[in-house]
Amino acid sequence: MVSSLSNLVLLGALWSPAVFAATNCPLHGADVPAPRNLSSSQTFQSALANLTQTLSQSISSGNTSYGPLDVVNTSFSIELFSTHEFTPLFTNQFTAPTLATAKYGVKNVTADTTFRIGSLTKLFTVYTFLIQAGDKKWNDLVTKYIPELLSAAEALNSTANPIDHVSWEDVTLWELASHLAGIGRDYSGFGELDGLLDPLSDPTAYGLPPLNSSEVVPCAGGAMCSRAQFFAGFTERHPVYAPSTSPIYSNVAFQILSYALENITGIDMPTMVSDSLLKPLNLTHSSWNVPASNATGILPVGNSWSLDIGDETAAGGMFSSSSDVTKLGRSILTSSLISPAQTRRWMQPRSFTSASNAMVGAPWEIYRITTSPNDRLVDLYTKSGDLPGYSSVLVLSRDYDFGFSVLAAGPDASVTSRLIAGLVQDAVFQSIEDSARSEASTNYAGTYTSSSTTLNSTVTISLDPSFPGLGVTTWISNGTDMLSPQVEKASIAAPSVRLYPSGLERELGDGGKEVGFRAVFEDLKAGSIGGLFGNGCETWFGVDGTYWGAVATDEFLIRVGADGKAVSVTPRALRVELGRT
Ligand SMILES: *[C@@H]1O[C@H](CO)[C@@H](O)[C@H](O)[C@H]1NC(C)=O
Ligand SMILES: *[C@@H]1O[C@H](CO)[C@@H](O)[C@H](O)[C@H]1NC(C)=O
Ligand SMILES: *[C@@H]1O[C@H](CO)[C@@H](O)[C@H](O)[C@H]1NC(C)=O
Ligand SMILES: *[C@@H]1O[C@H](CO)[C@@H](O)[C@H](O)[C@H]1NC(C)=O
Ligand SMILES: *[C@@H]1O[C@H](CO)[C@@H](O)[C@H](O)[C@H]1NC(C)=O
Ligand SMILES: *[C@@H]1O[C@H](CO)[C@@H](O)[C@H](O)[C@H]1NC(C)=O
Ligand SMILES: *[C@@H]1O[C@H](CO)[C@@H](O)[C@H](O)[C@H]1NC(C)=O
Ligand SMILES: *[C@@H]1O[C@H](CO)[C@@H](O)[C@H](O)[C@H]1NC(C)=O
Ligand SMILES: *[C@@H]1O[C@H](CO)[C@@H](O)[C@H](O)[C@H]1NC(C)=O
Ligand SMILES: *[C@@H]1O[C@H](CO)[C@@H](O)[C@H](O)[C@H]1NC(C)=O
Ligand SMILES: *[C@@H]1O[C@H](CO)[C@@H](O)[C@H](O)[C@H]1NC(C)=O
Ligand SMILES: *[C@@H]1O[C@H](CO)[C@@H](O)[C@H](O)[C@H]1NC(C)=O
Repeated sequence: MVSSLSNLVLLGALWSPAVFAATNCPLHGADVPAPRNLSSSQTFQSALANLTQTLSQSISSGNTSYGPLDVVNTSFSIELFSTHEFTPLFTNQFTAPTLATAKYGVKNVTADTTFRIGSLTKLFTVYTFLIQAGDKKWNDLVTKYIPELLSAAEALNSTANPIDHVSWEDVTLWELASHLAGIGRDYSGFGELDGLLDPLSDPTAYGLPPLNSSEVVPCAGGAMCSRAQFFAGFTERHPVYAPSTSPIYSNVAFQILSYALENITGIDMPTMVSDSLLKPLNLTHSSWNVPASNATGILPVGNSWSLDIGDETAAGGMFSSSSDVTKLGRSILTSSLISPAQTRRWMQPRSFTSASNAMVGAPWEIYRITTSPNDRLVDLYTKSGDLPGYSSVLVLSRDYDFGFSVLAAGPDASVTSRLIAGLVQDAVFQSIEDSARSEASTNYAGTYTSSSTTLNSTVTISLDPSFPGLGVTTWISNGTDMLSPQVEKASIAAPSVRLYPSGLERELGDGGKEVGFRAVFEDLKAGSIGGLFGNGCETWFGVDGTYWGAVATDEFLIRVGADGKAVSVTPRALRVELGRT
């Protein structure tokens, strides 16, 4: 028995300032293992019933908690899925009444109806890049793969004139994929006013000076530029920011990224997307080019179905259905086409934005939401897209192995997809956390004791609605109460020991597995230091902080059987496996 320190201190409880917190600071990521059985969860089913009701009320009233919904001309399709369940958790389509009069395409929207997905295409482009080329070349300079930009870097000296010329010699593939190249948004096809104005109109009537012939952009408003026209013109566009200053949304960046990939592999982009994604994932309702038939598509009045955006397709031209977007999302979350390590590297932020809950990845638009208990942060990896008359959003959660998408078509598609996604988010996420905790309670909560009659060792695990993770509420090791504050000097008033899944698992070959957890030791009564360094939720500083014979005192292993239920707990530093009683 140690005389001057409590066991909790030995276990690492006073390791970092983060323990001086009034509420638990969970480690980032899932606080309990992802739910595997949402379709049988009462909470989740009740959330879906609420969602169904919210949707039908919104449709009958044309109004939602986020404002009016166009229920006359705009159709939508929703699908929710878990990677642990084969069939979608929820699929719901709304067909706008005026679609009945559409000249072409479906009159009744289903999960297999083909929409244009706009910039959701960027996810297909980057995923294809990762499948074809991996991420080893991510830090390579774009000039290595694009001869036109190599020439531009030489001819248009950005060191001499950084205001007018992009420093192509500094731009990496990563920056292109994550809106950090600081380059222009579009070229010619979108945004060029010259192409938007009536050719016969007088620009001076809009306050614009007339352009002379050399300033007029080729292919504005008409057919998309050829590669040569594109580079000749786009290299004349001014940089927006220097690379890696701030995220600046760029469609052109994905066109250039796809040219770089073509240079790396020697294969054209449509073939690569088909070979890497459409065929392996059986995305039979998806295509790169405008489909030969529009019979299974949705073509509301004013649609842009047949708009061919040429090589900018890599940024926003694809077609897909809810059922196919679900397949794509499942593939990403399960690493079915790239390695899990690569997926983890990919699903990370690359930059902040000016919103504290939003970050940017490649090409992820990452939003952070909170769930109870404890306002735990949950990161949602999303991608949205818009083209005239069409809109899409895909939302993926690694914490929950869950995703959903909303596709919309009609004049109000962009508002509809975001608004419906907001309603889905509000309806389901807390119930998913609650379901995960309920499954964790069934699977892990209980008392675990040494089978040896001479060893008085016990661990009790339980979930508590006001604390994150799995709680260790009793911990006796060989007769010593590990959670008891034993000595005044280092006493801990309100010890809190929570276990969080590390994501490390070992299959045991009999359907069972060992699931890795790390414990976080906190004193919830110690008060908060506050200030810059006191509010950072720095529990992650102290993980693995103390160890006994090289094995960490916070390392726990839970062995589960083929039914997912825990069989034993091993506090690994103590070298004893405690069986569930
Ligand atoms: C899911 O829950 C149902 C009902 O509780 C149960 O019958 C089924 O075995 C569970 N499935 C899994 C994979 O845990
Ligand atoms: C469903 O809606 C009811 C009424 O608004 C609410 O009390 C309940 O918590 C909701 N259920 C879920 C699982 O969100
Ligand atoms: C729409 O719903 C919101 C929130 O439920 C409500 O505040 C608003 O008054 C409603 N608007 C109309 C036009 O009914
Ligand atoms: C629906 O579309 C029709 C035809 O374009 C238009 O006249 C009407 O105003 C639209 N209604 C709504 C609610 O957007
Ligand atoms: C639309 O399709 C769904 C799903 O296939 C079907 O259940 C429904 O009856 C169809 N509705 C109409 C109006 O055809
Ligand atoms: C790839 O780009 C490099 C440099 O930009 C160029 O030298 C090379 O010819 C290109 N290769 C192909 C196959 O396009
Ligand atoms: C670009 O300009 C810088 C500064 O004016 C100069 O030092 C450099 O030699 C120039 N590079 C080329 C390739 O002309
Ligand atoms: C067109 O205008 C630009 C300035 O905006 C000028 O530099 C260029 O010489 C002009 N070209 C012709 C052909 O007039
Ligand atoms: C591919 O999807 C279609 C329906 O879209 C289905 O009929 C077919 O069986 C699927 N093929 C495979 C190999 O799963
Ligand atoms: C839809 O398909 C029909 C029949 O092939 C064709 O005539 C029409 O031009 C297509 N419409 C659009 C908008 O693609
Ligand atoms: C338990 O403690 C006793 C002394 O109280 C000691 O002899 C024994 O080795 C300990 N056993 C384990 C497994 O720690
Ligand atoms: C085991 O140890 C705990 C903590 O010291 C003690 O309270 C309990 O009585 C012990 N149980 C037995 C059976 O010795």
